[in-house]
Amino acid sequence: NWTMARFLDQEIARIRDLVGPEGQVLGAVSGGVDSTVAAKLMKEAIGDRFWAVLVNNGVMRLDECEQVERDLKQHLGINLTVIDASKDFLEGLKGLHDPEQKRKFIGGKFIDVFEAEAQKIEEAAEKSGKGTKIGFFLQGTLYPDVIESLSFKGPSATIKTHHNVGGLPERMTNGQGLQLIEPLRSLYKDEVRELGRTLGIHEELVMRHPFPGPGIAVRILGEVTEEKVRIGRQADHIFISEIRKAGLYDQISQAYAAVDPSRAVGVMGDKRVYGYIIILRAVTTTDFMTAEAFNFPWEFLQRVMNRIVNEVHGVSRVTYDITSKPPGTIELE
Ligand code: XMP
Repeated sequence: NWTMARFLDQEIARIRDLVGPEGQVLGAVSGGVDSTVAAKLMKEAIGDRFWAVLVNNGVMRLDECEQVERDLKQHLGINLTVIDASKDFLEGLKGLHDPEQKRKFIGGKFIDVFEAEAQKIEEAAEKSGKGTKIGFFLQGTLYPDVIESLSFKGPSATIKTHHNVGGLPERMTNGQGLQLIEPLRSLYKDEVRELGRTLGIHEELVMRHPFPGPGIAVRILGEVTEEKVRIGRQADHIFISEIRKAGLYDQISQAYAAVDPSRAVGVMGDKRVYGYIIILRAVTTTDFMTAEAFNFPWEFLQRVMNRIVNEVHGVSRVTYDITSKPPGTIELE
């Protein structure tokens, strides 16, 4: 794409100019489209003077952390450090039932973990001989995020705490004195995807559905336990794999399997068993402000149901959430 190639050249030149020949940059990555495209752009601009950090918060999807590490390190050659804080997160989530408390805990813990690690990275960066100390912080902010944060003072802001909007950038800039770099802040999502392709990021990653910062913690209703994490991950993996196999992934904006902690009865052999209820959700939307449930073929839903009840131990029912937004939101919490 001609326009994107030009945007890329200009942005790389601007970043090189801003950072200088010695400056180093720190950034958090999640494996999502925005942070990956921003990170790859940084890699192109300043190589290993860009330091990416991925925090495993224990509520990523099945094998997701390993997958993201492979994509960013091997495939994209990004200078990445992975921090496994999953045990701390899962420990801290114990006893938390309220969705906003869960979000607040994960957001706050993320900042603590990141800040502690940032210090180590800064020391490593200084010793590496790659340049001077870290002076910049990368943020994959998009144009719609800019708009949203401008209107964030309104009452709708209190509906949900989106931890990736505030928090970390504020701490790294005002707290740590780093200068913010936001190479995507003039772009819409489809332009970021196009830029990703221009940067040679593979199609599967470029087309990835958005995934919330608090991860599957907001897809497990109520308290997060290790058992529910296992069940949610396995069910979600089956659902998404079947969606891919059926060639439906790109027609859907976002899809996942959630865990309802109420137990419903089922029969296994000749015994009554009580198991969790899986709620499948898949929506189409252009702006994520309104959305419709995806109209799956019946046979598809039956296939997914069969696989989940047979392959995921501890599940007795599978339901499909057909609620539109509004009134339903995309996430269940
Ligand atoms: P809702 O559920 O509000 O979701 O219809 C709209 C979009 O926002 C994502 N979402 C979040 N993203 N932290 C995030 O980073 C959050 O706490 C959060 N809650 C919802 C959701 O996945 C959808 O794309």
